[in-house]
Amino acid sequence: MTITPFDVDELFDSVLGTEDDTLRVVRDLSHKAGLPAIEVSVQQGKLLTLLVQMSNAKRVLEIGTLGGYSTICLARGVHPRGSVTTLEQNPIYARLAKEHLNFAQVSNRVNVIVGHALDNLQLLMGPFDFVFIDADKENNAFYVDWAVKLGEPGTVIMVDNIVRDGRVFTVQDKLEFIKRLGMRSDIEVSAIQTVGRKGWDGFILARVK
Ligand code: SAH
Ligand code: DHB
Ligand code: MG
Repeated sequence: MTITPFDVDELFDSVLGTEDDTLRVVRDLSHKAGLPAIEVSVQQGKLLTLLVQMSNAKRVLEIGTLGGYSTICLARGVHPRGSVTTLEQNPIYARLAKEHLNFAQVSNRVNVIVGHALDNLQLLMGPFDFVFIDADKENNAFYVDWAVKLGEPGTVIMVDNIVRDGRVFTVQDKLEFIKRLGMRSDIEVSAIQTVGRKGWDGFILARVK
């Protein structure tokens, strides 16, 4: 019998009991509603909660809400008097996400903004302490620009899916996006590969200088 990274994630999820009933229901409802099953994994969701907590973030920005799974994880980590702003282009997804945020009892801390992120980012006021970028990957470079613009020194930026199916995941399927991040003098950057439920994946974790 071959053990895969998928099995190991299942093992971690079950021995740690990471996903509570609320998140499990939200994941199931999202899938049943026909949303693509591309939300963060159980463990990555918990990592989001922990990173937001560890950075003592009061204002969190998310680009790409889908059914709100990651949004709930972010909201759980945010400072008691903090808030999460999440941007979603698809009005059907956004509506479902709002229901899920209600169900998870975090809607008092979350603001869902519907429309193209590049339109709505211009209307936001910073500073944000933590930015999770997880939308249309071809705009990642613009989203990082915005994250820096709306951030301040110490702001944490995570970019999901810099690797997918074992390929560096950019417009020209080249290292261009990551190369340009490395050339910036205003952020410190790490690029992390992962394996697990979502295959060979990866993320950027960066900090505004
Ligand atoms: N963060 C979610 C998954 C997001 S999937 C989670 O882990 O639970 C990517 C989402 O980005 C989709 O819902 C898609 O509709 C949205 N999206 C794609 N392009 C967008 C854009 N230009 N502006 C805002 N949202 C966008
Ligand atoms: C896709 C998008 C994601 O945000 C992700 O985490 C995995 C896959 C996709 O568009 O296929
Ligand atoms: Mg993603």
